[in-house]
Amino acid sequence: MGVAKMGRSARPLVGFGLLVLCFMAAMAEDEYLKYKDPKQPLGARIKDLMKRMSLEEKIGQMTQIERKVASADVMKQYFIGSVLSGGGSVPAPKASVQDWVNMVNEIQKGALSTRLGIPMIYGIDAVHGHNNVYKATIFPHNIGLGVTRDPELVKRIGAATALEVRATGIPYAFAPCIAVCRDPRWGRCYESYSEDHKIVQMMTEIIPGLQGDLPPKSRSVPFVAGKTKVAACAKHFVGDGGTVKGVDESNTVINIKDLFSIHMPAYYDSIKKGVATVMVSYSSVNGEKMHANGNLVTGFLKNKLKFRGFVISDWQGIDRITNPPHANYTYSVYAGILAGIDMIMVPENYAEYLSTLTELVKKNVIPMSRINDAVKRILRVKFAMGLFENPLADLSLANQLGSQEHRELAREAVRKSLVLLKNGKNGHYPLLPLPKKAPKILVAGTHADNLGFQCGGWTIEWQGVPGNDLTAGTTILTAVKNTVDPSTQVVFQENPDAGFVKSGGFSYAIVVVGEVAYAEMFGDSANLTIAGTGGAAINTVCGAVKCVVVVVSGRPVVIEPYVAKIDALVAAWLPGTEGQGVADVLFGDYGFSGKLARTWFKSVDQLPMNVGDRHYDPLFAFGFGLTTKPKVN
Ligand code: BGC
Ligand code: BGC
Repeated sequence: MGVAKMGRSARPLVGFGLLVLCFMAAMAEDEYLKYKDPKQPLGARIKDLMKRMSLEEKIGQMTQIERKVASADVMKQYFIGSVLSGGGSVPAPKASVQDWVNMVNEIQKGALSTRLGIPMIYGIDAVHGHNNVYKATIFPHNIGLGVTRDPELVKRIGAATALEVRATGIPYAFAPCIAVCRDPRWGRCYESYSEDHKIVQMMTEIIPGLQGDLPPKSRSVPFVAGKTKVAACAKHFVGDGGTVKGVDESNTVINIKDLFSIHMPAYYDSIKKGVATVMVSYSSVNGEKMHANGNLVTGFLKNKLKFRGFVISDWQGIDRITNPPHANYTYSVYAGILAGIDMIMVPENYAEYLSTLTELVKKNVIPMSRINDAVKRILRVKFAMGLFENPLADLSLANQLGSQEHRELAREAVRKSLVLLKNGKNGHYPLLPLPKKAPKILVAGTHADNLGFQCGGWTIEWQGVPGNDLTAGTTILTAVKNTVDPSTQVVFQENPDAGFVKSGGFSYAIVVVGEVAYAEMFGDSANLTIAGTGGAAINTVCGAVKCVVVVVSGRPVVIEPYVAKIDALVAAWLPGTEGQGVADVLFGDYGFSGKLARTWFKSVDQLPMNVGDRHYDPLFAFGFGLTTKPKVN
């Protein structure tokens, strides 16, 4: 009507001009944007988008910030390409699926409102299930999964984890850790499947579980099969598990042959399976920080192995190139980006990072070709996973979080991850499987009724949380109560005294002891002892009544002084929320089948000691594990 009016007006030329403008605006709105067209080949989309991007927009893509400092405005203002939740970083305590989805979408809308509308990718540590999230299924930590030597199981765990992560609106998991832990004094040993690289390689099957199976013909390209899968991250490249004395983030002193035959092989497998991203290790190789190691990151990983996804730094990883950290940030940015890192997990001080990197590029200290390589890789992953088509999450997967099916899967994994180290004194009178029917039994130990200890670090909080008020799950004590005959009386005392045990009339006792929860930086241990009153409980209880000791720990611990007293000994590692799996096997509903994926040392002065070493003299050798048959109770 307005136009018609104009046409009759005294100034027809102005009317015509407006008409043309309107037409042009409509055209601009409908302008064909090749990069937004999913029918275009990946390469063409990347190329089209790249040519439209300013330096500022490119550098924004190379930036990952913590959710605490992220907002729609920040995303928009700085063209931020990625956001993460650090350990324990959640939208609210005990946040619901809805809270998560709202938060992620809110941040995403900021990214989408930019000129080019490039979606951000949100990442989180989902390293044994979706572990930051209240009521998620918590699977055994990798150390237990290595025991199963069951890649198909691990693949199913990957698929379940992907669904739970996607349920909260998140498309990217910083997993798997494919470290080959060579020294259990390392506080991240439990994140490693094994001291044997072959087991770690086998367990990279979790990658097609998380991302989906790479289609047969497409070789070694980053691949994520859509909305029910997540981008994975093989970490920490490379040699993280080989540091001297297991000191976290320190130096791996190693000859090239061992580096390539022990720590590198699982990267070949990961890339072959289409892993979307690789995270660089804080540690050094022969004194050179991995975050500044161009030979290995660019020369080897990108050029030689033809990894085509993106390389991400660790949290403040470039800051830690210098000692003390952040001592020369310009150098850190320079060294990290030139080494070949594509996305920097800043994570908080993004303004400083952005201005530093921009400056370095403008001065030609960092060549534009390096920036283009980084951005292409990031966009390749984003396009490949369908993020442009599906940037926003909905609640359609909400019921996947902590679903019964996933809990059953975790319980199966727990059963298969247990290692039976001893059953009966001098090989006689096996105590396991335990009878379900007994007048009265004793359950003791610091770890019998502690869900947080059972889950370990990287659970709800970065360092884990002790106690039973962290999330939903079944403690071993509850599992025992669920399993015994209704007529069996179960008495629980964490640290009973000798008189009580002797006069209690117990048929047998289950003593559950181990390590407290810990994670990186705080988990290194030079003595590897059982925590708190655990040792005392073993002595007291096993001195008075037939006992099975269940060790809940992130690695082998000093156990030799107690072994003679113990009737049956089980390594349960860090089983996660489904403690029922422990009872399933203790009481013979299922048999023991696990085989050590780590060497169980006698004393810490033997360390490091790995299978194949000349001085190999273990208490329980790599590969050891007694078996039992399921029994009809
Ligand atoms: C850890 C990584 C983790 C990252 C993000 C770092 O401190 O080394 O494994 O993915 O934090 O939480
Ligand atoms: C974060 C972790 C991170 C760690 C590294 C913590 O504050 O929550 O995700 O790995 O710092 O220092």
